[in-house]
Amino acid sequence: MTIKYQAIKGVKDILPGETEKWQFMEMTAREVFECYGFSEIRIPIFEKTVVFTRSIGETTDIVEKEMYTFTNGSGDSLTLRPEGTASVVRAYVEHNLYNPPSVVKLYYMGPMFRCERPQAGRYRQFYQIGAEVFGTENPEMDAESIGMLIRYFERLGLKDLELQINSLGCDECRPKFRKALLEFLKDRKNMLCEDCQRRFERNPLRIFDCKSANCHEATKESPTIESYMCENCKSHFDSTLRYLDKLNIPHTENPKLVRGLDYYTKTAFEIVSKKLGAQNTIAGGGRYDKLIEEFGGPPTPAFGFAIGIDRTASLMEDKNYIRISPQIFIATVGEKAGEKAFELIDTLRLKGIRVERDYENSSLKSQLRKADRAGVKYTIIIGEDEINKGRAILRDMPASQQEEIEILRIEEIVSQKLR
Ligand code: HAM
Repeated sequence: MTIKYQAIKGVKDILPGETEKWQFMEMTAREVFECYGFSEIRIPIFEKTVVFTRSIGETTDIVEKEMYTFTNGSGDSLTLRPEGTASVVRAYVEHNLYNPPSVVKLYYMGPMFRCERPQAGRYRQFYQIGAEVFGTENPEMDAESIGMLIRYFERLGLKDLELQINSLGCDECRPKFRKALLEFLKDRKNMLCEDCQRRFERNPLRIFDCKSANCHEATKESPTIESYMCENCKSHFDSTLRYLDKLNIPHTENPKLVRGLDYYTKTAFEIVSKKLGAQNTIAGGGRYDKLIEEFGGPPTPAFGFAIGIDRTASLMEDKNYIRISPQIFIATVGEKAGEKAFELIDTLRLKGIRVERDYENSSLKSQLRKADRAGVKYTIIIGEDEINKGRAILRDMPASQQEEIEILRIEEIVSQKLR
């Protein structure tokens, strides 16, 4: 046999056995986030391209080279979402979620699409669980949201994580820092890689994020934003760190942390795993106090983060996450018994009992083997003789014991036994 079709590069299937772990990550996120007052929002998989270019930033890697963009019949440029924040902000403004004024907390989960060079931990379709809070500038919210994320990772049993945090300042102080950085890099421009030479003109802060050793060297002694931060940003950052201390959340200040999206103001952070290779950031986020206005909404401060679920999954133990397996197997011998079982299976499933069966008219021995493999506790055996007597056999699989029961009472007896 030759396989005719394979999944495309950079995307993958998540198969039963692995999906249980994913369901566990999703279920735990719902449980933890709901304790903090978050509600779920479901956003579309694609949007008008401008939703992403305007928010993520024209000169970011995502917008410059990683978006899956296509044109629909009417000539609109559309893009598969590379992240969730832009869509959540679009929805927040479009549906006036700022009315009545209050703090609005939303979470989402699902696939994102970036046309990056695939490698371990970096996919073209990957999954995020994200959370966004609108309507407060309070640094307690920065710390509380990061705290929620850490508690989530703790619940998943992850260890050896590091929280790196920085402040990217605001419209008042960041331009001053940008100017100082350009001044510093002016004489070192020829040390920079080709990409960073372009970034130098258009988005110099992104140079800090470059993996090239030369760019690293060029920025080694560079000024950092700390020295340029205005009073307001400084005090906001100090308070955020203080609240993190109150929550006993260790953090490393990284004055060169810039993030790959342009909408951030003030707090920016990443959670890095010491157990992963090059793609070791498992979550990132920060404050974006200007984005809602840019989308035509009222001035609304906001804070959020997104978790990379593929990377998180690779850090989790491969223990047996609750696997939804059948509870009852129905084995039949003969046509009449098969007909009876067909109806009985439906009745039991309607009661919420997970029932499995054989579809191949196999021998009883082979059906019992299948029941064993399915891991059921009980098998109900119905044969021609039993049907005539209105009875069936209930077999306790682990105990290898069986008893005769009335067909009419199957539903009642099985429900009792499974309780
Ligand atoms: P981001 O840092 O671009 O932020 O992505 C968040 C996380 O998604 C990353 O830390 C990483 O774990 C995962 N991720 C990103 N790209 C890939 C990929 N190609 N393959 C596998 N995993 C990946 C955002 O997306 C922002 N929207 C976060 C945010 C929310 N900021 C404020 N609110």
